[in-house]
Amino acid sequence: MVKILICDGLDKSGLKILRSAEGVEADTPDGLGAAEIKAILPQYDAMIVRSRTRVTADLIESAQRLKAVGRAGTGVDNIDVEAASARGILVMNTPGANAMAAAEHTLALMLALARHIPQATGSMRHGLWEKKKFVGTELYHQTLGIVGLGKIGSIVADRALAMKMRVLVYDPHIVPEMAAVLGVEYVSFDDLLAGSDFITVHTPLTGETHWILNRQTLAKTKPGVRIVNCARGGLIDEAALREFLSNGHVAGAALDVFEIEPPTGSPLLDMPNVIFTPHLGASSLQAQENVSVAISSQLLDYLQRGLIRNAINFPSVSMKDYERLRPYLLLAERLGNLQGQLCRAVQKLDITYAGPDLQEVPLQPLTQTVIKGLLDPVMAEKVNLINAPLLLKERHIELTVSTTSQSRGYTGEITVKVKGCGKDEYSASAAVFPGQEVRLVRLNDYMLEAELEGINLIVQNLDKPGTIGHIGTTLGNFNVNIANMHLARSRERDRAIAIIRVDNEAPPEALESLRSHPSIIFVQQVKL
Ligand code: NAD
Ligand code: MLT
Repeated sequence: MVKILICDGLDKSGLKILRSAEGVEADTPDGLGAAEIKAILPQYDAMIVRSRTRVTADLIESAQRLKAVGRAGTGVDNIDVEAASARGILVMNTPGANAMAAAEHTLALMLALARHIPQATGSMRHGLWEKKKFVGTELYHQTLGIVGLGKIGSIVADRALAMKMRVLVYDPHIVPEMAAVLGVEYVSFDDLLAGSDFITVHTPLTGETHWILNRQTLAKTKPGVRIVNCARGGLIDEAALREFLSNGHVAGAALDVFEIEPPTGSPLLDMPNVIFTPHLGASSLQAQENVSVAISSQLLDYLQRGLIRNAINFPSVSMKDYERLRPYLLLAERLGNLQGQLCRAVQKLDITYAGPDLQEVPLQPLTQTVIKGLLDPVMAEKVNLINAPLLLKERHIELTVSTTSQSRGYTGEITVKVKGCGKDEYSASAAVFPGQEVRLVRLNDYMLEAELEGINLIVQNLDKPGTIGHIGTTLGNFNVNIANMHLARSRERDRAIAIIRVDNEAPPEALESLRSHPSIIFVQQVKL
């Protein structure tokens, strides 16, 4: 039974998907605190959170069964992604699923701010009719500065252009052509600050964007500027904003998000020229349904089929690419596994992808799968696709990855070379054969066609008559049944290799007995 803990409430559409899946139990306990979550999390394979629950390193440490954390939303700043990656836990979100809601909320805040709508509502509730007090400003022909032209920033830009605003954009991580396509002006941050009547921020909260609007940057803004934040609280230094609102340099602000939520003690709460909503950007019926359906199906895809989408700590793969990659994922894992068992103390790992099947598909998942396969036989700790690259780095294994169109006739071929201590060096290539069968097609200089599965003995010997007979007799003496055998000879015809698939594991004494034969150079048992 796969158990999923839903922490922060999830629209019923997603719950329905989870609960109708076979072998899945989705629990929705109400309003759990951190300590309560920590106490029950060890029973769960996955958890779904929105922004309320903080998935800390401490929480992750306690969750021995946890394989995935699903964020029904965009921002993952409430999840310690690094701690999750180190433990091999996949973190995924639902990018774009609430973008329309957040963009429309931004526009609603901007219009409400420009026309003092919340203040006028409050005044009327007090029985007043203050027409003169609430004279506003139009957006028409005003300049809007958008910081961060991602999914939400782009929708805001499009709608602002429809309202005939001039739109300036600052985003150092996009190419200027992206702005040109949208019909907005790509400018420097200083030019955006100096030239905008309204500024709206739409970046994630990162080390680089924390307090992007602070005392220094607010000082560069146009007097009378209005500021909107429907992204993340930490993007604005709230104390600095209060100063600029108090001295009138900033005419007003509209905030949906706060550095601490709920914002008890925020220096902005009593400012008359600031309007607020309690983190409602994604609170539309449609967005809640979208994120709920998206995270539930993504989580099931991962837990039941290993398909990864919208992961924060793993490269995502589309369904189409996944279907193409599927046989190669198996191949990659077995090839890595073979090399992990053949080579001691790997120092260098070199992966080459060849052939038409492996062109124009994301190769990172395959690389991470090779690494997982390689480290699995030697690590006590659980290795999976998420923590594999981290473990590789920790073990100081140098990785190189290349592609080539030359594939010796195979539609797709992966070669994994490893170099260990001393002279330990192996090169193994495998390809996918019809029926999606994966076969070892080369081991060092030996050309083969051996199925890459099960328990195998790899025996290298001097090519002398009687050696194969001896191998068969020895294994027979130890009651080890041979399922099949692939033989290959070196180009010089002096040495040979046998890949012997056996039905049961050969005991150490059998391997020793084989090694003691004068013609046998090398014997290694590998389990794939
Ligand atoms: P996105 O990843 O699509 O876009 C973010 C953009 O910010 C990217 O284009 C990126 O290049 C840009 N960026 C990153 N660093 C930058 C920097 N230093 N300066 C300028 N630009 C920078 O994300 P999105 O889906 O558009 O979400 C934007 C923000 O809105 C996020 O913080 C997200 O958490 C938040 N959000 C809030 C709500 C809400 O309820 N209020 C709802 C959804 C999303
Ligand atoms: C998000 O990042 O998706 C928003 O903050 C909305 C939410 O709180 O889920």
